[in-house]
Amino acid sequence: MRVPIIAGNWKMNKTVSESVEFVNYIKNELPDPSEREIVLAAPTLSLTSMVQAAKDTPLKIAAENCYCRIAGAYTGETSPRSLSLAGIHHVILGHSERRRLFNETDELINQKVQVALRNGLCPIVCCDDTMGRRIAGKKVRWVVSRILADLKGLSPADVTKVTMAFEPSWAIGTGQSADPEQAAEGCYLIRQTIRDMYGEDIGNAVRILYGGSVNETNIKALMAYDDIDGVLVGGASLDPDRFLKLVNS
Ligand code: G3P
Repeated sequence: MRVPIIAGNWKMNKTVSESVEFVNYIKNELPDPSEREIVLAAPTLSLTSMVQAAKDTPLKIAAENCYCRIAGAYTGETSPRSLSLAGIHHVILGHSERRRLFNETDELINQKVQVALRNGLCPIVCCDDTMGRRIAGKKVRWVVSRILADLKGLSPADVTKVTMAFEPSWAIGTGQSADPEQAAEGCYLIRQTIRDMYGEDIGNAVRILYGGSVNETNIKALMAYDDIDGVLVGGASLDPDRFLKLVNS
């Protein structure tokens, strides 16, 4: 059984004290971890204080990015090893903002995924609907060639530690979520690609999230689909009461 994940992605929002205040506000209201995994991805500067605040609670803290090396002359970058040793569980990689604004390539993302896994982090690998060619037909289908590139070289055991996130670029931060059927189709196609790469069992084990204008009103309809194993939430995760509604919905 795939335990659903509700993950917030704060992006470049919240100071360290705001981050800790948020964790303290929500930490005793979280669902049983066997029913739902709750993750908060926050700016690098907030992470260690959030880990402290979340100690002995089911809340998992995630980084929003990391580098593809564990140490060296890479000014301004964050080591996946340091993140892992600091108690961070997950790292978001390949978010469309990183690809678009910081020109991250599939090759770089693939290297980051590999190094993150080797250092004990679970990557949340994002892909959007601009990542492949649409093929004309009755149903809109995406050729998810980039998934192949982002996951290249991973062993089956590694892939089960990866969570995928389908985030159509037009739905990010626009208030216009994909309709649940569209979202489920994107997640299904990602799962099919993983099944093709690694076989049925691995494809069935990997968790696939939907992201893009998810809120406390549309989450239920989205998560009603079998192929949607959870959500990656930006704007609606910034308010603790809204986030609690999402995690307990
Ligand atoms: O990673 C989550 C994100 O890109 C979606 O943002 O604000 O549309 O929920 P938002």
